[in-house]
Amino acid sequence: MLNSRRARSGLLAMVATGAVLATSVALSGNADAATTLGASAAQSGRYFGAAIAAGKLGDATYTRILNTEFSAVTPENEMKWDATEPSQGRFTYTNGDRILQQGQSMGAKVRGHALLWHQQQPSWAQSLSGSALRSAAINHVTQVATHYKGKIYAWDVVNEAFADGGSGGRRDSNLQRTGNDWIEAAFRAARAADPAAKLCYNDYNTDGVNAKSTGVYNMVRDFKSRGVPIDCVGFQSHLGTSIPGDYQANLQRFADLGVDVQITELDVAQGGNQANIYASVTKACLAVSRCTGITVWGIRDSDSWRTGENPLLFDNSGNKKAAYTSVLNALNAGGTTTPTTPPTTPPGTPPSSTPPPSGAGCTAAVSLNSWDGGYVATVRVTAGSSALSGWTVSVTLPSGGAITGAWSATNSGTSGTVGFRNVDYNGNVAAGASTEFGFQGTGGGPGTATCQAS
Ligand code: G3I
Repeated sequence: MLNSRRARSGLLAMVATGAVLATSVALSGNADAATTLGASAAQSGRYFGAAIAAGKLGDATYTRILNTEFSAVTPENEMKWDATEPSQGRFTYTNGDRILQQGQSMGAKVRGHALLWHQQQPSWAQSLSGSALRSAAINHVTQVATHYKGKIYAWDVVNEAFADGGSGGRRDSNLQRTGNDWIEAAFRAARAADPAAKLCYNDYNTDGVNAKSTGVYNMVRDFKSRGVPIDCVGFQSHLGTSIPGDYQANLQRFADLGVDVQITELDVAQGGNQANIYASVTKACLAVSRCTGITVWGIRDSDSWRTGENPLLFDNSGNKKAAYTSVLNALNAGGTTTPTTPPTTPPGTPPSSTPPPSGAGCTAAVSLNSWDGGYVATVRVTAGSSALSGWTVSVTLPSGGAITGAWSATNSGTSGTVGFRNVDYNGNVAAGASTEFGFQGTGGGPGTATCQAS
């Protein structure tokens, strides 16, 4: 049973986090325990989420449980590369947007999953390599993070980039073969596109202290020391019939690096220990102040990718299992910590500051995400005191540099001085307002751009 101090601090935490939940904490008689996963997690300022599938949102049992129990959602497949960019440069957000809208309608957090992963790449990306793949990957990060800008609580920017086994090193993949810095390039691009989203690295078999998790730990420590923008680490926690004895200690050592930690894809094989393992994971998160929430990878056993293992909290008919009760009880028993307010992380390099024009006309400000041999440029076009009905921007590339693609503008030429003209939908810009376009290239990028009304 909660003592009154805990109940009070729990309520304060709810107020502090602004948690909006379908059900609230029941405070009648002795039963001062919350009755849903989301509400009970909110008592300590945390979320409790589920991975969901757009194709199941028409299932009444599924959506009833979702709306009642959960305070965060993750798209199981709908925001992955193959789903969002099925052919190069053609972005499809229909199903990702359905997940976003579902989350928003619940007042839930939305975790974005996943910007770059060696699996579930569209076939066109699988056949690319080198700088073409690097450019395509960074463009993908920029475009998708921009589409969801301001709406995503945390992005899994890079998923599963470390090798299994004892090496502690990176997994071989087409992305890894573009250069070891592909992960930091992705994080920088994500930060520039959506400065408000927490940026996570996410992996499996990293749930205890082992060679793989230590490889990730060393990367995070390196990123923090060099100012590469990373805010959180996701521990998938696809567990079998046991949990590493150092599960909590492993979360804590990452938290001590100055990042949030999140349990991102929890499921546990059904067996004698399922309920206990679920409770242990929950207690470990509650005991680590920077563990901000838990997500289970599906709702009912029948929704799980682990066919036949019945690894979730609700059975095939949507009934609560013993594992559900053990999680709820653990959440209501509370922990010793509430999530600390994460420090404000600096956004990515702002566009080079070009003052808004004082008269008519326009200005253009370039922001670059560069790596060895290439870059992605985002250009913000701002109208002066008169509205624009069309614009052209010109940049001068350093010798040897070339444009390899552009979006939201058409370019004339690919090297030397290159002009970009608005496309149909972004030529009209109200006085003082802005629009953005972008391009990617090899070699060095331009430092400045000039804009002309047309
Ligand atoms: O939607 C198509 C359907 O039209 C087609 O008939 C059918 C035939 O195979 O495939 C369906 O797509 C499947 C999709 O799930 C939706 O069910 C894909 O084949 C299948 O590969 C895909 O599996 C997903 C898997 O990631 C891909 O590797 C699982 O749903 C999803 O749960 C799983 O999630 C991953 C996380 O993203 C990362 N961590 C591990 C986790 C579990 O593998």
